[in-house]
Amino acid sequence: MPSERSAWLRSLARLAVLLVVAGAIGLAIGRPWPMLALASLGALAWQQWKLRNLLLQLLARRRADLPGGSGVWDEIDRLLHRSQADMRAQKRRLLDMLRAYRAAAAALPDAVLVLDRNSQRILWFNDAATRLLGLRYPRDIDASLGDRLQPLPVAHWLSSGRNAEPLSDMPSPVDPDIRLNLRLIPYSDELWLLVARDVSKLMRLEHMRRDFVANVSHELRTPLTVVHGYLDMLDPVEQPEWAPILHEMRRQSQRMTQLVEDLLTLSRLEAQDALADESVPMAPLLATLGREAQALSQNRHVITVEDDAQVDLWGSQRELHSAFSNLVSNAVRYTPEGGSIDIRFARDAGGGAVLSVQDSGYGIPAAHLPRITERFYRVSTSRSRESGGTGLGLAIAKHVLSLHQARLEIASEVGRGSRFSCHFGPERVYLRSPRDLAIT
Ligand SMILES: Nc1ncnc2c1ncn2[C@@H]1O[C@H](COP(=O)(O)OP(=O)(O)O)[C@@H](O)[C@H]1O
Ligand SMILES: [Mg+2]
Repeated sequence: MPSERSAWLRSLARLAVLLVVAGAIGLAIGRPWPMLALASLGALAWQQWKLRNLLLQLLARRRADLPGGSGVWDEIDRLLHRSQADMRAQKRRLLDMLRAYRAAAAALPDAVLVLDRNSQRILWFNDAATRLLGLRYPRDIDASLGDRLQPLPVAHWLSSGRNAEPLSDMPSPVDPDIRLNLRLIPYSDELWLLVARDVSKLMRLEHMRRDFVANVSHELRTPLTVVHGYLDMLDPVEQPEWAPILHEMRRQSQRMTQLVEDLLTLSRLEAQDALADESVPMAPLLATLGREAQALSQNRHVITVEDDAQVDLWGSQRELHSAFSNLVSNAVRYTPEGGSIDIRFARDAGGGAVLSVQDSGYGIPAAHLPRITERFYRVSTSRSRESGGTGLGLAIAKHVLSLHQARLEIASEVGRGSRFSCHFGPERVYLRSPRDLAIT
């Protein structure tokens, strides 16, 4: 700033000196006013000349050297030159950054597409989008995404916008063997990012794991049945010292059989996307659950069954029974003698229904709750083994419920007990016919 001000002061001083000198000469020759007017005109012409030069130089733009001179116009010229140079440098930096980001997005192994949110047209895509989705440049720029990815159900998916759940395990339009996961990321009001990831390897591994578990379980079934059969035939009367050993062998072989059965159930559930819907009369099912609880408890607990719903469920009778029965057997097995178990079926506020199994047992520490439905996850391995558990019961229950679009809610307090509630939506519920009501 000081240099600009001094340039302006210098210019003013020069003008003043010029006028004083012109005035003095005018006085000397006896014509001060014409002389002053001449000097003023000269100064004005000089300023006009400098202004013209400045304009020409600005038009010529790219000049390597900083302009010289010490007048106010030179100073303005220098300032403009400097800000132009700054702007050019900034533009270069921004362009470099933009190029770097584009190069990074283009090099990503996942297909990345920028979409216009309103028209759902493709604005940009990277190289992987060509490989995974078959998009071609420049043909597909500005094309409608729904048209381009025709076999995939993207049009409907895009209409859910911000709430669109990722689409998993989709076949690629280029090659059905390539399996894709599609995610929609709305990153601004006008633009969406669509990311497609190649999960073929992951899916193959997942299939291999599923097949492996199913095959091993299946192969173990026959030898186990044989061992089990022979163990049943052995009678410890002749050698009573064998009695406890035989008892333990039977118990363990039963546990192994249960483990194999549970693994097979899980494999079967995993292989299914949906279950056949049939009507599931709840009154007989609740009665069966009550009987199973009694049999397992051997009168060690107080067991109550309440049926307040007056509705039945749509779903798979066999799988629902297995899910509920896992919850009931847990309640019995993780509740000490003298405790109570309450099985209750009721309507919920949203028009659906809830089956809950409440016990007054050991309870589950809050830290374990988020992982409790994972396979083989137990709070206490020894207690689970002792009670004949396989660690798969809750995983099975959760799987069955998710195939019914239902959810499992767990509330538990250590030392006071737990409540496992299965929440079914209104679409899974229908009113019992009067005949069924009369029976119950
Ligand atoms: N009603 C319950 N009360 C206390 N703990 C429970 C209850 N139900 C399940 N659990 C805990 O959750 C774990 C997992 O249950 P589950 O999947 O049925 O396997 P398990 O075969 O061990 O019963 C159990 O080992 C136990 O620690
Ligand atoms: Mg269990």
